[in-house]
Amino acid sequence: MNGPGEILSNVVASQMAEHAPYGGVVPEIAARAHVEVIDDVIRSALRDAKTSLDEVDAIGATAGPGLNGGLMVGLTTAKALAIAAGKPFYAINHLEGHALTARLTDGMAFPLLLLLVSGGHTQILLVRGVGDYHRLGTTIDDALGEAFDKTAKLLGLPYPGGPAVEKEAARHPSDHPLPDLPTPMLGRPGFDFSFSGLKTAVRQAAQESAEDDGKIGDQAVQAVCAGFQRSVCRVLEDRVGRALDHAKQMHSKPLPLVVAGGVAANAAVRATLERVAVKGGSTLLAPPLHLCTDNGAMIAWATIERMAQNMPPSGMDFPPRPRWPLDAKTTPKIGSGKRGAKA
Ligand code: KG4
Ligand code: ZN
Repeated sequence: MNGPGEILSNVVASQMAEHAPYGGVVPEIAARAHVEVIDDVIRSALRDAKTSLDEVDAIGATAGPGLNGGLMVGLTTAKALAIAAGKPFYAINHLEGHALTARLTDGMAFPLLLLLVSGGHTQILLVRGVGDYHRLGTTIDDALGEAFDKTAKLLGLPYPGGPAVEKEAARHPSDHPLPDLPTPMLGRPGFDFSFSGLKTAVRQAAQESAEDDGKIGDQAVQAVCAGFQRSVCRVLEDRVGRALDHAKQMHSKPLPLVVAGGVAANAAVRATLERVAVKGGSTLLAPPLHLCTDNGAMIAWATIERMAQNMPPSGMDFPPRPRWPLDAKTTPKIGSGKRGAKA
């Protein structure tokens, strides 16, 4: 496929409000919320696109990785529609959707280097072709978005934590000192991440700044958020910089850097990646935010890319795969992606 593609409709139903009171994703709520909205979402998507089921070429749905309940709802519905309409059905890996988005938006050629930073994943992937992915690095514990969410929770900020932490960090006066928080994995060989130690340090810093009534003052919240974000950016600079160098050596030329996932919304993270890309002789492509975060268009596009390669449709017995690494040759890392991805 030579993108970019044209998006006729892209309906996203967010469940953030349902999960917010619990400070994170609750699996039972996620499954029920999928059942409640899926019929309307499909109807709206066809209406927005001014088309009908008869006119589509195929039906693609996310089969994993992620929470089993939501996957079951989406897969079962997609299979039922495919059978009823007599269309081929494609089970798509959610991560493949992220990996191919830069081709949908900008027609990027292979190979490219992808940094995926969401609530469920933190990975660096070499994207060599449709279905040809090599995972260079992943988190060995928490995902980066999860670390933002936990930091927010520890400081009494709302869920999802990323935007709240970014906002508080921006309020910290640049000439005021920052808490000295760790930068896990910085300078280590390889391309893996780890964020649980940073979370522990944030907890300690929050406890130390708490006043007698247990509350943390505004200035202390701002300082911890700014310190956390500085550590995150330093780690990203190191890990992604190494990956770009490695890719350059392997391919004898710098590869374009693409970022995906909700954390890509963070201005400090984007600025850091921009700098790293320039330093490595590369360029950063950050797709528009609504296509960086989870969405149906990226799954439809992955389906189109598979069809264009004459890859066969999936069987109706294709099961949900809560764990489904893009790169089958990689070994699972302890605890990585344990929360699972949504959508
Ligand atoms: O990709 P996404 O929408 O959903 C999945 O997790 O798959 O990513 C959501 C994550 C949340 O953890 C959220 O806190 C984080 O992205 N996030 C941010 C920002 N906006 C969203 N993290 C840092 N800064 C932000 N501005
Ligand atoms: Zn995602």
